[in-house]
Amino acid sequence: MRVIFELSKEYDSLPADEVIYSIKGEKSSGYSLVEKNENVVVVDVEDEKINRLADRVALSFFLDKFLFSCEPDLSEIRKKSEKIEIPVNKGSSFRVRCNNRSRHVEFSSLDVEREVGDIFARNYRVDLKKPDFEVRIILTDNRVYGGIKLFEIDRKSFEKRKAQYRPFFSPISLDPKLARALVNLSEVGRDEVLLDPFCGTGGILLEAVLIGARVIGNDISRKMIEGCRKNLEYFGINKYELYQCDVGDVSKFVENVDAVVTDFPYGRSTSTSGEKIEILYDRGAEVICKVLKSDGKAVVGLPNEKSLGILDDYLEREVVYPCRVHRSLTRYFGVYKKG
Ligand SMILES: C[S@@+](CC[C@H](N)C(=O)[O-])C[C@H]1O[C@@H](n2cnc3c(N)ncnc32)[C@H](O)[C@@H]1O
Repeated sequence: MRVIFELSKEYDSLPADEVIYSIKGEKSSGYSLVEKNENVVVVDVEDEKINRLADRVALSFFLDKFLFSCEPDLSEIRKKSEKIEIPVNKGSSFRVRCNNRSRHVEFSSLDVEREVGDIFARNYRVDLKKPDFEVRIILTDNRVYGGIKLFEIDRKSFEKRKAQYRPFFSPISLDPKLARALVNLSEVGRDEVLLDPFCGTGGILLEAVLIGARVIGNDISRKMIEGCRKNLEYFGINKYELYQCDVGDVSKFVENVDAVVTDFPYGRSTSTSGEKIEILYDRGAEVICKVLKSDGKAVVGLPNEKSLGILDDYLEREVVYPCRVHRSLTRYFGVYKKG
């Protein structure tokens, strides 16, 4: 089925890439990318993968069944809508919602909803509250996309897992939506093993478990490991492995993991016991390379581009995403592959 992912505007190009990497993580063999830009990803993907993708992605709002795309012009939208045939009984109810992301088009969401609504009303009943189906029109500066809503991403569920709502709190934990997107960048699949060697309060592990990965966490701090356990259990998770040791010792317990996702110590608020931060990063990179299976992926958060270079000695860098995680803090997330 051809599907439209309506992307959120958080973290620049990350929402679009999250979709592509999630599809790879679901081991989709026959997918093909139709279009990718800052507003939407349009992709042909096997029907049986769509539910899982809707459960997986964090930085999208809706998944729609693709109906058409056209120039951002009201008469074009009308022409395309006239031609649509959808396999629902006549007499079913519908509503039209327009997501206006354009700064330049000279008509409004309401104009679009009215035009398209009038066309659909010839065969279907309007129900604005609980329709049988929802027609979605995404208006962008360069293109318009039309689709039937398949899923709305449950973004509220991410809010509930924010650091302040977990039993063990620490401000070092990432926003759950970002943590989920990082897990998705790693292409980890259901029942595959994901390691976070600097797991802290467990924010990354939590998001990985929720998409069906098996997780292993490690942290040097006993307080963190106890807190991480509390957080995982609080969300009903009881299948995990946690170790409390220096990152250098992780390879004593762990080998051949499918993916590593981690946010390295900041070297500011977290203690490094006097060790120079570059040395710790180098030791971390060496261990990640050692325990990752060949072809496996690592997604690593660091304070700057220079630090990312340390990992280049061990792994092949694919892409970097600078992400503002707090008002005054930007982290650089590098995606690496073990060659
Ligand atoms: C940026 S925090 C990770 C935050 C985590 N993603 C979360 O959701 O809470 C980095 C963690 O690395 C741990 N750490 C610092 N030095 C370490 C070392 N040498 N070996 C293992 N863990 C270490 C700290 O205790 C801290 O919990």
